Amino acid sequence: MESKELKKKYIEFFKKKGHKNIVNASLIPENDPTVLFTTAGMHPLVPFLLGEKHPQGKRLVNVQKCIRTSDIEEVGDDCHLTFFEMLGNWSLGDYFKEEMVEMSYEFLIDVLKLDKERIGISCFKGDKDAGKDTVSAEKWGALGINKERIAFLPKSENWWESPGETGPCGPDSEMFFYIRKKVPKKFDVEDKNWVEIWNDVFMEYNKNQNGKYEKLKQQNVDTGMGVERTVAILNGYDNVYEIDTLKPLMDKVNKLSKKNDVRSKRIVVDHLRAAVFILNEKVEPGNLEQGYVLRRLIRRAIRHGKLLGINHRFCKDVVDEVFKVSDYKFNKKFILNEIKKEEEKFDRSLNQGMRIFEKESKGLKIVSGKLAFTLFASYGFPLEMTREMAKEKGLKVDEKGFEKAFEEHQKLSRTATAGRFKSGLADSSEMTTKLHTATHLLLQALKEVLHDENIMQKGSNITPERLRLDFNFPRKVERDELDKIEDKVNEQIKKKLEVKFEEMSLEEAKKKGVKGAFEHKYGEKVKVYSIGSYSKELCAGPHVSSLKELGKFKIKKEESSSSGVRRIKAKLL
Ligand code: GLY
Repeated sequence: MESKELKKKYIEFFKKKGHKNIVNASLIPENDPTVLFTTAGMHPLVPFLLGEKHPQGKRLVNVQKCIRTSDIEEVGDDCHLTFFEMLGNWSLGDYFKEEMVEMSYEFLIDVLKLDKERIGISCFKGDKDAGKDTVSAEKWGALGINKERIAFLPKSENWWESPGETGPCGPDSEMFFYIRKKVPKKFDVEDKNWVEIWNDVFMEYNKNQNGKYEKLKQQNVDTGMGVERTVAILNGYDNVYEIDTLKPLMDKVNKLSKKNDVRSKRIVVDHLRAAVFILNEKVEPGNLEQGYVLRRLIRRAIRHGKLLGINHRFCKDVVDEVFKVSDYKFNKKFILNEIKKEEEKFDRSLNQGMRIFEKESKGLKIVSGKLAFTLFASYGFPLEMTREMAKEKGLKVDEKGFEKAFEEHQKLSRTATAGRFKSGLADSSEMTTKLHTATHLLLQALKEVLHDENIMQKGSNITPERLRLDFNFPRKVERDELDKIEDKVNEQIKKKLEVKFEEMSLEEAKKKGVKGAFEHKYGEKVKVYSIGSYSKELCAGPHVSSLKELGKFKIKKEESSSSGVRRIKAKLL
Protein backbone atom coordinates (compact mmCIF):
# COMPACT_ATOMS: atom_id res chain seq x y z
CA MET A 1 0.00 0.00 0.00
CA GLU A 2 1.24 3.50 -0.80
CA SER A 3 1.06 6.45 1.60
CA LYS A 4 -1.54 8.19 -0.53
CA GLU A 5 -3.88 5.24 -0.31
CA LEU A 6 -3.66 4.97 3.47
CA LYS A 7 -4.34 8.70 3.83
CA LYS A 8 -7.34 8.44 1.56
CA LYS A 9 -8.76 5.44 3.41
CA TYR A 10 -8.43 7.16 6.78
CA ILE A 11 -10.04 10.44 5.69
CA GLU A 12 -12.88 8.62 3.92
CA PHE A 13 -13.51 6.39 6.93
CA PHE A 14 -13.88 9.30 9.33
CA LYS A 15 -15.85 11.40 6.86
CA LYS A 16 -18.38 8.58 6.78
CA LYS A 17 -18.51 8.85 10.56
CA GLY A 18 -19.51 12.51 10.34
CA HIS A 19 -16.07 14.16 10.49
CA LYS A 20 -15.04 17.26 8.54
CA ASN A 21 -11.66 17.21 6.83
CA ILE A 22 -9.69 20.23 8.10
CA VAL A 23 -6.57 21.70 6.48
CA ASN A 24 -3.09 20.36 6.88
CA ALA A 25 -1.77 23.31 8.91
CA SER A 26 1.59 25.03 8.64
CA LEU A 27 4.61 23.42 10.30
CA ILE A 28 5.13 26.70 12.12
CA PRO A 29 2.39 27.01 14.77
CA GLU A 30 0.43 30.21 14.51
CA ASN A 31 -1.56 29.94 17.68
CA ASP A 32 0.53 27.79 19.95
CA PRO A 33 3.66 29.56 21.17
CA THR A 34 4.64 26.66 23.42
CA VAL A 35 6.41 24.83 20.59
CA LEU A 36 8.67 25.80 17.68
CA PHE A 37 7.07 23.32 15.29
CA THR A 38 3.78 21.58 14.84
CA THR A 39 4.53 18.22 16.45
CA ALA A 40 1.00 16.84 16.24
CA GLY A 41 -2.30 17.66 14.62
CA MET A 42 -3.61 19.01 17.93
CA HIS A 43 -1.52 22.23 18.02
CA PRO A 44 -3.71 24.26 15.69
CA LEU A 45 -6.69 22.95 17.65
CA VAL A 46 -5.61 23.97 21.15
CA PRO A 47 -8.21 26.76 21.58
CA PHE A 48 -10.96 24.35 20.52
CA LEU A 49 -9.81 21.57 22.80
CA LEU A 50 -10.00 24.15 25.58
CA GLY A 51 -13.61 24.90 24.72
CA GLU A 52 -13.80 27.44 21.87
CA LYS A 53 -16.36 26.48 19.27
CA HIS A 54 -14.78 25.20 16.05
CA PRO A 55 -16.50 26.57 12.93
CA GLN A 56 -16.46 23.14 11.29
CA GLY A 57 -18.09 21.32 14.14
CA LYS A 58 -17.21 18.79 16.80
CA ARG A 59 -15.87 15.97 14.62
CA LEU A 60 -12.71 16.68 12.66
CA VAL A 61 -10.15 14.68 10.71
CA ASN A 62 -6.99 15.51 8.79
CA VAL A 63 -3.52 14.63 7.60
CA GLN A 64 -1.01 16.83 9.42
CA LYS A 65 2.64 17.35 8.58
CA CYS A 66 4.75 17.26 11.74
CA ILE A 67 8.31 17.89 12.88
CA ARG A 68 9.64 16.28 16.05
CA THR A 69 13.19 16.99 17.16
CA SER A 70 12.93 15.53 20.65
CA ASP A 71 13.85 12.06 19.38
CA ILE A 72 16.61 13.23 17.06
CA GLU A 73 19.14 10.90 18.68
CA GLU A 74 16.97 7.94 17.69
CA VAL A 75 16.83 8.90 14.03
CA GLY A 76 18.72 6.27 12.09
CA ASP A 77 16.81 3.40 13.73
CA ASP A 78 13.94 1.60 11.98
CA CYS A 79 11.08 3.93 12.78
CA HIS A 80 11.94 7.42 14.12
CA LEU A 81 11.61 10.29 11.68
CA THR A 82 12.10 14.03 12.18
CA PHE A 83 9.47 14.89 9.59
CA PHE A 84 6.42 12.68 9.30
CA GLU A 85 2.79 12.83 8.40
CA MET A 86 0.17 12.09 11.00
CA LEU A 87 -3.40 11.03 10.51
CA GLY A 88 -5.67 12.31 13.22
CA ASN A 89 -9.28 12.67 14.19
CA TRP A 90 -10.86 14.73 16.92
CA SER A 91 -13.94 14.84 19.03
CA LEU A 92 -14.37 18.31 20.51
CA GLY A 93 -16.61 17.44 23.44
CA ASP A 94 -18.54 14.93 21.34
CA TYR A 95 -17.86 11.15 21.44
CA PHE A 96 -15.43 9.75 24.01
CA LYS A 97 -13.67 6.49 24.94
CA GLU A 98 -16.05 3.72 23.90
CA GLU A 99 -17.00 5.13 20.55
CA MET A 100 -13.37 5.96 19.73
CA VAL A 101 -12.10 2.51 20.64
CA GLU A 102 -14.83 1.01 18.50
CA MET A 103 -13.90 3.16 15.51
CA SER A 104 -10.21 2.37 15.97
CA TYR A 105 -10.97 -1.34 15.98
CA GLU A 106 -13.15 -1.07 12.89
CA PHE A 107 -10.51 0.87 10.96
CA LEU A 108 -7.60 -1.41 11.88
CA ILE A 109 -9.37 -4.74 11.48
CA ASP A 110 -12.16 -4.18 8.95
CA VAL A 111 -10.64 -1.49 6.75
CA LEU A 112 -6.89 -2.11 6.93
CA LYS A 113 -7.43 -5.85 7.43
CA LEU A 114 -4.79 -6.18 10.10
CA ASP A 115 -4.69 -9.50 11.89
CA LYS A 116 -6.45 -9.12 15.24
CA GLU A 117 -4.07 -11.67 16.74
CA ARG A 118 -1.13 -9.35 16.13
CA ILE A 119 -2.64 -6.33 17.90
CA GLY A 120 -1.54 -5.30 21.40
CA ILE A 121 -3.15 -2.56 23.46
CA SER A 122 -2.03 -0.35 26.33
CA CYS A 123 -4.31 1.64 28.63
CA PHE A 124 -3.66 4.08 31.45
CA LYS A 125 -2.98 2.46 34.80
CA GLY A 126 -4.18 5.40 36.88
CA ASP A 127 -2.42 7.61 39.43
CA LYS A 128 -3.05 10.63 41.64
CA ASP A 129 -3.93 12.82 38.65
CA ALA A 130 -6.41 10.53 36.88
CA GLY A 131 -8.10 7.16 37.40
CA LYS A 132 -7.44 3.79 35.80
CA ASP A 133 -8.90 3.57 32.29
CA THR A 134 -11.04 0.46 32.62
CA VAL A 135 -13.58 1.83 30.14
CA SER A 136 -11.22 1.59 27.16
CA ALA A 137 -9.75 -1.72 28.29
CA GLU A 138 -13.18 -3.31 28.68
CA LYS A 139 -14.23 -2.07 25.28
CA TRP A 140 -11.11 -3.56 23.65
CA GLY A 141 -11.84 -6.82 25.42
CA ALA A 142 -15.49 -6.83 24.33
CA LEU A 143 -14.38 -6.33 20.72
CA GLY A 144 -12.33 -9.50 20.96
CA ILE A 145 -8.81 -8.43 21.86
CA ASN A 146 -7.28 -11.09 24.09
CA LYS A 147 -7.02 -9.90 27.74
CA GLU A 148 -3.33 -10.82 27.87
CA ARG A 149 -2.65 -8.42 25.05
CA ILE A 150 -4.16 -5.50 26.97
CA ALA A 151 -1.72 -3.92 29.40
CA PHE A 152 -2.22 -1.15 31.96
CA LEU A 153 0.78 1.19 32.02
CA PRO A 154 1.77 4.32 33.96
CA LYS A 155 1.93 7.95 32.89
CA SER A 156 5.38 7.54 31.34
CA GLU A 157 3.76 5.34 28.68
CA ASN A 158 0.06 6.11 28.57
CA TRP A 159 -0.35 9.83 28.94
CA TRP A 160 -0.09 12.27 26.09
CA GLU A 161 0.80 15.91 26.32
CA SER A 162 2.42 18.29 23.88
CA PRO A 163 6.14 18.99 24.40
CA GLY A 164 5.21 22.57 25.29
CA GLU A 165 4.98 23.29 28.99
CA THR A 166 1.23 23.74 29.19
CA GLY A 167 -1.83 22.64 27.28
CA PRO A 168 -4.59 20.08 26.85
CA CYS A 169 -3.61 16.49 27.64
CA GLY A 170 -4.83 13.22 29.07
CA PRO A 171 -4.51 9.47 29.36
CA ASP A 172 -4.29 7.50 26.15
CA SER A 173 -4.85 4.04 24.77
CA GLU A 174 -2.18 2.94 22.30
CA MET A 175 -2.36 0.30 19.60
CA PHE A 176 0.64 -1.83 18.68
CA PHE A 177 1.27 -4.32 15.90
CA TYR A 178 3.62 -7.29 16.23
CA ILE A 179 5.94 -7.17 13.22
CA ARG A 180 7.14 -10.79 13.36
CA LYS A 181 4.98 -13.78 12.48
CA LYS A 182 5.21 -15.70 15.75
CA VAL A 183 3.22 -13.55 18.13
CA PRO A 184 3.78 -13.94 21.88
CA LYS A 185 0.70 -14.56 24.05
CA LYS A 186 1.27 -11.45 26.10
CA PHE A 187 1.70 -7.86 24.99
CA ASP A 188 4.98 -6.44 26.29
CA VAL A 189 5.81 -2.80 25.60
CA GLU A 190 9.52 -3.52 26.11
CA ASP A 191 9.60 -5.96 23.19
CA LYS A 192 10.56 -3.77 20.22
CA ASN A 193 8.70 -6.04 17.81
CA TRP A 194 5.51 -4.51 19.12
CA VAL A 195 5.41 -1.29 17.08
CA GLU A 196 3.06 1.52 18.03
CA ILE A 197 0.78 2.52 15.18
CA TRP A 198 -2.02 4.59 16.67
CA ASN A 199 -2.75 6.56 19.77
CA ASP A 200 -6.19 7.52 21.09
CA VAL A 201 -5.76 10.37 23.56
CA PHE A 202 -8.64 11.12 25.87
CA MET A 203 -8.05 14.81 26.43
CA GLU A 204 -10.04 15.86 29.40
CA TYR A 205 -7.29 17.73 31.26
CA ASN A 206 -5.27 20.89 30.86
CA LYS A 207 -1.77 21.18 32.28
CA ASN A 208 -1.43 24.63 33.79
CA GLN A 209 1.65 26.74 34.46
CA ASN A 210 2.17 25.13 37.85
CA GLY A 211 2.28 21.71 36.22
CA LYS A 212 -1.12 20.80 37.71
CA TYR A 213 -3.74 18.89 35.76
CA GLU A 214 -7.13 20.60 35.70
CA LYS A 215 -10.29 19.06 34.29
CA LEU A 216 -11.38 20.70 31.05
CA LYS A 217 -14.88 21.95 30.38
CA GLN A 218 -15.35 19.16 27.86
CA GLN A 219 -14.15 15.61 27.15
CA ASN A 220 -12.17 15.52 23.90
CA VAL A 221 -10.59 12.82 21.81
CA ASP A 222 -7.32 13.47 19.93
CA THR A 223 -5.76 10.65 17.95
CA GLY A 224 -2.54 10.26 16.02
CA MET A 225 -1.46 7.60 13.54
CA GLY A 226 1.96 7.88 11.90
CA VAL A 227 1.59 7.46 8.15
CA GLU A 228 5.11 6.21 7.45
CA ARG A 229 5.10 3.58 10.20
CA THR A 230 1.67 2.27 9.33
CA VAL A 231 2.48 2.02 5.64
CA ALA A 232 5.63 0.06 6.53
CA ILE A 233 3.60 -2.34 8.64
CA LEU A 234 0.88 -2.79 6.04
CA ASN A 235 3.55 -3.78 3.54
CA GLY A 236 5.37 -6.08 5.91
CA TYR A 237 8.56 -3.95 5.92
CA ASP A 238 10.70 -3.91 9.03
CA ASN A 239 11.67 -0.23 8.67
CA VAL A 240 10.13 2.98 7.35
CA TYR A 241 12.85 3.62 4.75
CA GLU A 242 11.33 0.92 2.53
CA ILE A 243 8.06 2.78 1.88
CA ASP A 244 7.14 4.71 -1.28
CA THR A 245 7.99 8.18 0.09
CA LEU A 246 11.39 7.21 1.51
CA LYS A 247 12.84 4.38 -0.56
CA PRO A 248 13.82 6.50 -3.59
CA LEU A 249 15.75 8.81 -1.23
CA MET A 250 17.57 5.87 0.32
CA ASP A 251 18.32 4.48 -3.16
CA LYS A 252 19.86 7.81 -4.10
CA VAL A 253 22.13 7.86 -1.03
CA ASN A 254 23.10 4.24 -1.68
CA LYS A 255 24.20 5.31 -5.14
CA LEU A 256 26.24 8.17 -3.70
CA SER A 257 28.04 6.01 -1.16
CA LYS A 258 29.02 2.37 -1.21
CA LYS A 259 29.81 2.36 2.52
CA ASN A 260 27.75 0.09 4.72
CA ASP A 261 26.82 2.71 7.34
CA VAL A 262 23.03 2.42 7.35
CA ARG A 263 22.54 4.83 10.24
CA SER A 264 24.40 7.68 8.56
CA LYS A 265 22.53 7.04 5.33
CA ARG A 266 19.19 7.21 7.12
CA ILE A 267 20.22 10.41 8.91
CA VAL A 268 21.08 12.04 5.57
CA VAL A 269 17.70 11.02 4.15
CA ASP A 270 15.67 11.99 7.22
CA HIS A 271 17.35 15.34 7.85
CA LEU A 272 17.30 16.60 4.27
CA ARG A 273 13.69 15.56 3.90
CA ALA A 274 12.77 17.45 7.09
CA ALA A 275 14.83 20.45 5.93
CA VAL A 276 12.88 20.60 2.66
CA PHE A 277 9.57 20.81 4.51
CA ILE A 278 10.82 23.47 6.94
CA LEU A 279 12.25 25.52 4.06
CA ASN A 280 8.90 25.20 2.34
CA GLU A 281 7.49 27.34 5.19
CA LYS A 282 9.93 30.11 4.12
CA VAL A 283 12.15 29.59 7.16
CA GLU A 284 15.83 30.30 6.40
CA PRO A 285 18.82 28.68 8.11
CA GLY A 286 19.93 30.90 11.01
CA ASN A 287 20.99 31.00 14.62
CA LEU A 288 17.60 31.29 16.29
CA GLU A 289 14.52 29.21 16.84
CA GLN A 290 13.22 27.40 13.74
CA GLY A 291 16.12 28.68 11.62
CA TYR A 292 18.56 27.12 14.05
CA VAL A 293 16.86 23.74 13.97
CA LEU A 294 16.90 23.92 10.18
CA ARG A 295 20.61 24.78 10.15
CA ARG A 296 21.33 21.87 12.49
CA LEU A 297 19.47 19.45 10.26
CA ILE A 298 21.20 20.52 7.06
CA ARG A 299 24.64 20.60 8.63
CA ARG A 300 24.22 17.27 10.37
CA ALA A 301 23.13 15.71 7.08
CA ILE A 302 26.22 17.13 5.38
CA ARG A 303 28.48 15.87 8.12
CA HIS A 304 27.03 12.37 7.87
CA GLY A 305 27.49 12.65 4.11
CA LYS A 306 31.18 13.27 4.79
CA LEU A 307 31.30 10.23 7.10
CA LEU A 308 29.88 8.25 4.18
CA GLY A 309 32.73 9.46 2.01
CA ILE A 310 30.59 11.62 -0.25
CA ASN A 311 32.97 14.33 -1.31
CA HIS A 312 30.90 16.55 -3.55
CA ARG A 313 28.01 18.85 -2.65
CA PHE A 314 25.27 16.28 -2.67
CA CYS A 315 22.23 17.85 -0.99
CA LYS A 316 20.50 18.73 -4.25
CA ASP A 317 20.61 15.10 -5.39
CA VAL A 318 18.60 14.01 -2.36
CA VAL A 319 16.33 17.06 -2.28
CA ASP A 320 15.26 16.47 -5.90
CA GLU A 321 14.06 13.01 -4.84
CA VAL A 322 12.00 14.52 -2.01
CA PHE A 323 10.25 16.74 -4.56
CA LYS A 324 9.51 13.72 -6.75
CA VAL A 325 7.96 11.44 -4.13
CA SER A 326 5.84 13.88 -2.11
CA ASP A 327 2.29 14.97 -2.88
CA TYR A 328 2.97 18.55 -1.69
CA LYS A 329 3.60 21.70 -3.68
CA PHE A 330 7.11 23.00 -3.15
CA ASN A 331 8.78 26.35 -3.61
CA LYS A 332 11.63 24.52 -5.35
CA LYS A 333 13.68 27.54 -6.35
CA PHE A 334 13.79 28.97 -2.82
CA ILE A 335 14.50 25.58 -1.24
CA LEU A 336 17.33 24.65 -3.60
CA ASN A 337 18.88 28.09 -3.33
CA GLU A 338 18.85 28.13 0.49
CA ILE A 339 20.27 24.61 0.70
CA LYS A 340 23.00 25.48 -1.75
CA LYS A 341 23.93 28.63 0.19
CA GLU A 342 24.02 26.73 3.48
CA GLU A 343 26.06 23.91 1.99
CA GLU A 344 28.64 26.35 0.64
CA LYS A 345 28.78 28.32 3.86
CA PHE A 346 29.18 25.20 5.93
CA ASP A 347 31.81 23.69 3.65
CA ARG A 348 34.01 26.72 4.00
CA SER A 349 33.99 26.76 7.77
CA LEU A 350 33.81 23.01 8.30
CA ASN A 351 37.34 22.27 7.21
CA GLN A 352 38.77 25.12 9.26
CA GLY A 353 36.71 24.16 12.30
CA MET A 354 37.68 20.49 12.10
CA ARG A 355 41.34 21.46 12.11
CA ILE A 356 40.86 23.63 15.18
CA PHE A 357 38.91 20.90 16.93
CA GLU A 358 41.64 18.31 16.23
CA LYS A 359 44.37 20.62 17.44
CA GLU A 360 42.65 21.99 20.56
CA SER A 361 41.13 18.74 21.78
CA LYS A 362 44.33 16.72 21.62
CA GLY A 363 45.15 15.07 24.92
CA LEU A 364 41.97 16.33 26.61
CA LYS A 365 39.17 14.37 28.32
CA ILE A 366 36.66 17.12 28.03
CA VAL A 367 36.05 19.69 25.33
CA SER A 368 35.85 23.07 27.04
CA GLY A 369 32.72 25.22 26.79
CA LYS A 370 34.86 27.93 25.28
CA LEU A 371 36.11 25.70 22.47
CA ALA A 372 32.57 24.44 21.79
CA PHE A 373 31.37 28.04 21.68
CA THR A 374 34.17 29.16 19.35
CA LEU A 375 33.27 26.32 17.00
CA PHE A 376 29.63 27.40 17.21
CA ALA A 377 30.07 31.14 16.83
CA SER A 378 33.00 31.33 14.42
CA TYR A 379 32.76 28.10 12.44
CA GLY A 380 29.03 27.40 12.54
CA PHE A 381 29.21 24.05 14.32
CA PRO A 382 25.92 23.30 16.02
CA LEU A 383 26.61 22.23 19.62
CA GLU A 384 25.17 18.86 18.86
CA MET A 385 27.76 18.32 16.14
CA THR A 386 30.64 19.14 18.47
CA ARG A 387 29.07 16.72 20.93
CA GLU A 388 28.99 14.02 18.29
CA MET A 389 32.58 14.63 17.15
CA ALA A 390 33.69 14.55 20.77
CA LYS A 391 31.86 11.27 21.34
CA GLU A 392 33.66 9.69 18.41
CA LYS A 393 36.92 10.47 20.19
CA GLY A 394 35.62 9.33 23.59
CA LEU A 395 35.43 12.92 24.88
CA LYS A 396 32.71 14.84 26.69
CA VAL A 397 31.67 18.44 26.13
CA ASP A 398 31.36 20.97 28.94
CA GLU A 399 27.83 21.99 27.99
CA LYS A 400 27.25 24.25 30.97
CA GLY A 401 30.42 26.08 29.99
CA PHE A 402 29.07 26.35 26.46
CA GLU A 403 25.80 27.87 27.61
CA LYS A 404 27.64 30.29 29.83
CA ALA A 405 29.91 31.38 27.00
CA PHE A 406 26.86 31.69 24.81
CA GLU A 407 25.00 33.91 27.24
CA GLU A 408 28.00 36.13 27.80
CA HIS A 409 28.37 36.75 24.10
CA GLN A 410 24.80 37.20 23.02
CA LYS A 411 22.64 40.19 23.61
CA LEU A 412 19.66 37.90 23.42
CA SER A 413 17.30 37.60 26.32
CA ARG A 414 17.63 34.61 28.60
CA THR A 415 14.24 33.35 27.55
CA ALA A 416 15.22 33.14 23.92
CA THR A 417 18.36 31.27 24.86
CA ALA A 418 16.59 28.77 27.05
CA GLY A 419 13.90 28.38 24.43
CA ARG A 420 16.43 27.52 21.80
CA PHE A 421 18.00 24.72 23.75
CA LYS A 422 14.79 23.24 24.98
CA SER A 423 13.02 23.77 21.64
CA GLY A 424 10.14 25.34 23.45
CA LEU A 425 9.23 28.68 24.89
CA ALA A 426 7.70 29.36 28.25
CA ASP A 427 4.01 29.68 27.79
CA SER A 428 1.63 32.17 29.11
CA SER A 429 -1.60 31.55 27.29
CA GLU A 430 -3.16 34.60 28.89
CA MET A 431 -0.54 36.93 27.44
CA THR A 432 -0.75 35.37 24.00
CA THR A 433 -4.52 35.81 23.99
CA LYS A 434 -4.06 39.50 24.79
CA LEU A 435 -1.45 39.89 22.07
CA HIS A 436 -3.78 38.16 19.65
CA THR A 437 -6.46 40.78 20.31
CA ALA A 438 -3.83 43.53 20.04
CA THR A 439 -2.91 42.17 16.59
CA HIS A 440 -6.44 42.91 15.38
CA LEU A 441 -6.24 46.45 16.75
CA LEU A 442 -2.88 46.97 15.10
CA LEU A 443 -4.15 45.81 11.74
CA GLN A 444 -7.06 48.23 11.84
CA ALA A 445 -4.84 51.12 13.02
CA LEU A 446 -2.42 50.44 10.15
CA LYS A 447 -5.24 50.75 7.62
CA GLU A 448 -6.33 54.05 9.11
CA VAL A 449 -2.99 55.75 9.64
CA LEU A 450 -1.53 54.61 6.32
CA HIS A 451 -4.81 55.31 4.49
CA ASP A 452 -4.80 51.90 2.86
CA GLU A 453 -7.88 49.69 3.17
CA ASN A 454 -6.13 46.90 1.26
CA ILE A 455 -3.65 46.19 4.01
CA MET A 456 -4.00 42.57 5.01
CA GLN A 457 -2.36 40.21 7.42
CA LYS A 458 0.28 38.17 5.62
CA GLY A 459 1.43 36.27 8.64
CA SER A 460 1.29 36.33 12.40
CA ASN A 461 3.35 34.79 15.14
CA ILE A 462 2.80 35.34 18.82
CA THR A 463 5.00 34.44 21.76
CA PRO A 464 4.37 35.48 25.36
CA GLU A 465 6.92 38.26 24.86
CA ARG A 466 5.62 39.92 21.70
CA LEU A 467 3.37 39.86 18.70
CA ARG A 468 4.69 39.81 15.17
CA LEU A 469 2.52 40.91 12.28
CA ASP A 470 3.42 40.76 8.60
CA PHE A 471 1.33 42.86 6.22
CA ASN A 472 1.44 44.04 2.63
CA PHE A 473 2.74 47.59 2.25
CA PRO A 474 5.18 48.92 -0.34
CA ARG A 475 7.49 51.03 1.82
CA LYS A 476 8.96 51.55 5.25
CA VAL A 477 6.52 52.83 7.88
CA GLU A 478 8.13 55.94 9.40
CA ARG A 479 8.55 56.50 13.11
CA ASP A 480 6.00 59.32 13.27
CA GLU A 481 3.48 57.02 11.59
CA LEU A 482 4.30 54.26 14.04
CA ASP A 483 3.67 56.73 16.88
CA LYS A 484 0.25 57.54 15.43
CA ILE A 485 -0.55 53.84 15.08
CA GLU A 486 0.44 53.22 18.68
CA ASP A 487 -1.75 56.13 19.80
CA LYS A 488 -4.75 54.79 17.86
CA VAL A 489 -4.42 51.34 19.42
CA ASN A 490 -4.00 52.79 22.92
CA GLU A 491 -7.01 55.04 22.36
CA GLN A 492 -9.17 51.96 21.71
CA ILE A 493 -7.75 50.16 24.73
CA LYS A 494 -8.64 53.18 26.91
CA LYS A 495 -12.23 52.94 25.67
CA LYS A 496 -12.36 49.42 27.16
CA LEU A 497 -14.22 48.14 24.12
CA GLU A 498 -15.90 44.76 24.28
CA VAL A 499 -14.70 41.88 22.12
CA LYS A 500 -17.40 39.61 20.71
CA PHE A 501 -17.81 37.02 18.03
CA GLU A 502 -20.63 35.87 15.78
CA GLU A 503 -20.81 32.75 13.66
CA MET A 504 -21.98 32.99 10.08
CA SER A 505 -21.49 31.43 6.69
CA LEU A 506 -18.51 32.51 4.64
CA GLU A 507 -20.92 34.08 2.15
CA GLU A 508 -22.61 36.21 4.80
CA ALA A 509 -19.26 37.36 6.13
CA LYS A 510 -18.13 38.38 2.66
CA LYS A 511 -21.37 40.28 2.10
CA LYS A 512 -20.80 42.17 5.31
CA GLY A 513 -17.38 43.15 4.03
CA VAL A 514 -15.50 41.35 6.78
CA LYS A 515 -11.79 41.14 6.10
CA GLY A 516 -9.48 38.21 6.70
CA ALA A 517 -6.59 36.78 4.78
CA PHE A 518 -7.11 33.16 5.72
CA GLU A 519 -10.59 32.44 4.54
CA HIS A 520 -9.76 29.08 3.03
CA LYS A 521 -8.90 27.80 6.45
CA TYR A 522 -12.31 27.72 7.91
CA GLY A 523 -14.62 26.10 5.42
CA GLU A 524 -18.34 26.78 5.57
CA LYS A 525 -19.09 28.33 8.94
CA VAL A 526 -16.82 31.10 10.13
CA LYS A 527 -16.30 33.15 13.24
CA VAL A 528 -16.22 36.91 12.97
CA TYR A 529 -14.63 38.76 15.85
CA SER A 530 -15.50 42.39 16.44
CA ILE A 531 -13.85 44.83 18.80
CA GLY A 532 -16.52 47.43 19.57
CA SER A 533 -17.27 48.92 16.19
CA TYR A 534 -13.55 49.46 15.59
CA SER A 535 -12.51 46.19 14.00
CA LYS A 536 -14.24 43.21 12.42
CA GLU A 537 -12.13 40.23 11.37
CA LEU A 538 -12.54 36.66 10.31
CA CYS A 539 -10.66 34.74 12.96
CA ALA A 540 -10.78 31.53 14.98
CA GLY A 541 -9.86 33.23 18.25
CA PRO A 542 -9.33 33.07 21.15
CA HIS A 543 -9.48 36.70 22.28
CA VAL A 544 -9.90 38.62 25.51
CA SER A 545 -13.48 39.61 26.24
CA SER A 546 -12.74 43.25 26.93
CA LEU A 547 -9.90 45.62 26.03
CA LYS A 548 -9.66 46.66 29.65
CA GLU A 549 -7.42 43.62 30.15
CA LEU A 550 -4.84 44.79 27.64
CA GLY A 551 -2.48 47.37 29.19
CA LYS A 552 -0.30 49.68 27.11
CA PHE A 553 0.58 48.88 23.50
CA LYS A 554 4.09 49.58 22.23
CA ILE A 555 5.68 49.02 18.81
CA LYS A 556 9.23 47.74 19.17
CA LYS A 557 10.32 47.34 15.59
CA GLU A 558 9.36 47.85 11.97
CA GLU A 559 11.28 46.14 9.21
CA SER A 560 11.04 44.51 5.82
CA SER A 561 9.83 40.91 5.80
CA SER A 562 9.97 40.13 2.11
CA SER A 563 9.28 42.01 -1.10
CA GLY A 564 6.19 44.18 -0.57
CA VAL A 565 5.66 42.85 2.95
CA ARG A 566 6.53 44.74 6.16
CA ARG A 567 6.86 43.31 9.63
CA ILE A 568 5.99 44.88 12.97
CA LYS A 569 6.91 43.55 16.38
CA ALA A 570 5.01 44.96 19.33
CA LYS A 571 4.33 44.27 23.00
CA LEU A 572 1.89 45.03 25.74
CA LEU A 573 3.40 46.68 28.80
N1 GLY B 1 -1.61 13.85 19.73
C1 GLY B 1 -1.61 12.46 19.64
C2 GLY B 1 -0.32 11.85 19.21
O1 GLY B 1 0.57 12.55 18.81
O2 GLY B 1 -0.16 10.68 19.28
